[in-house]
Amino acid sequence: MAEDEIERIPGVGEATAEKLREAGFTDIMSIAVSSPQTLAELCEIGQAQAQKIIVAARKMAEIGGFETGDVILEKRKKVGRLTTGSKQLDAIMGGGFETQAITELFGEFGSGKTQIAHQCAVNVQLSEDVGGLSGETIMIDTENTFRPERIIQMATALDLEPAQALKKIHVARAYNSNHQMLLMEKVNEIAKEHNVRLLIVDSLTAHFRAEYIGRGALAERQQQLNKHMHELLRFGDVHNAVILVTNQVSARPDVFFGDPTKPIGGNIVAHTSTFRIYLRKSKGNKRIARLIDSPNLPEAEAVFSVTEDGVRDD
Ligand code: GTP
Ligand code: MG
Repeated sequence: MAEDEIERIPGVGEATAEKLREAGFTDIMSIAVSSPQTLAELCEIGQAQAQKIIVAARKMAEIGGFETGDVILEKRKKVGRLTTGSKQLDAIMGGGFETQAITELFGEFGSGKTQIAHQCAVNVQLSEDVGGLSGETIMIDTENTFRPERIIQMATALDLEPAQALKKIHVARAYNSNHQMLLMEKVNEIAKEHNVRLLIVDSLTAHFRAEYIGRGALAERQQQLNKHMHELLRFGDVHNAVILVTNQVSARPDVFFGDPTKPIGGNIVAHTSTFRIYLRKSKGNKRIARLIDSPNLPEAEAVFSVTEDGVRDD
């Protein structure tokens, strides 16, 4: 039985385990951090039973302890920054995309999410003094939009050897949301052998949106996305890496600013992302990026452009 198999929780028999899994509670941690009300509702079990299961799960899970402020400050000092290729965009991010954090790019089709992802996969290879992290990239590609030809263009523009640049980008297609999450195991393996400083999931939400349809599926989808995002965040912490995820949304702002249950990925993605950047198209190759949500930076906008060489200031 695997470490995090939910049957290991005292009081969880086969039937209960089945109910828990169906509701998206697939490992001990997801149960440990749940509330009795939620668990009871989603799994259709009594609150008393839910409470017992959660208490048992908490004893087994490594919830993590408290750290003092000085330890956290030390950790913050290690935060690295990755240039996007646009000084303006870097500036609203406080100097580039942060490591140990999830940055979510959201916007309609063609708004530049995949282009920024490609650019970052090249830039991360640069040395620190020019905005890179001297590292490699793992990309989970759910929409088959990774283009090595585009990497060659971008690498050439930065005087990197294109063949070498391609070797430092590890790409896996994810065929469905389950596969997407399973790939995290592989991701952790690759990171043992390579200095991975950037993990991209493009698109984070597309499979989830396509597979979990209707109100009844919402709770499970959110559970799974929550688990996925926490695995990503953990990777960012352990490897001091930038986590970059993309999320397509409708061009109608009212759809996702008005009703918080409407955006793809819903509250889970919004709350788990450390930084959220809303991208929209402007004239020609110009794009506007707006930093929406950040723990320590003001809301701000930047204009950049997508050129033959890649992402640049406009
Ligand atoms: P979806 O994945 O469909 O949601 O869109 P996205 O936000 O990922 O859009 P993407 O990053 O793929 O942006 C596509 C746009 O980038 C195109 O419409 C072009 O304007 C631009 N673009 C892509 N490749 C090139 C290129 O080689 N040269 C130039 N100049 N522009 C490019
Ligand atoms: Mg894309």
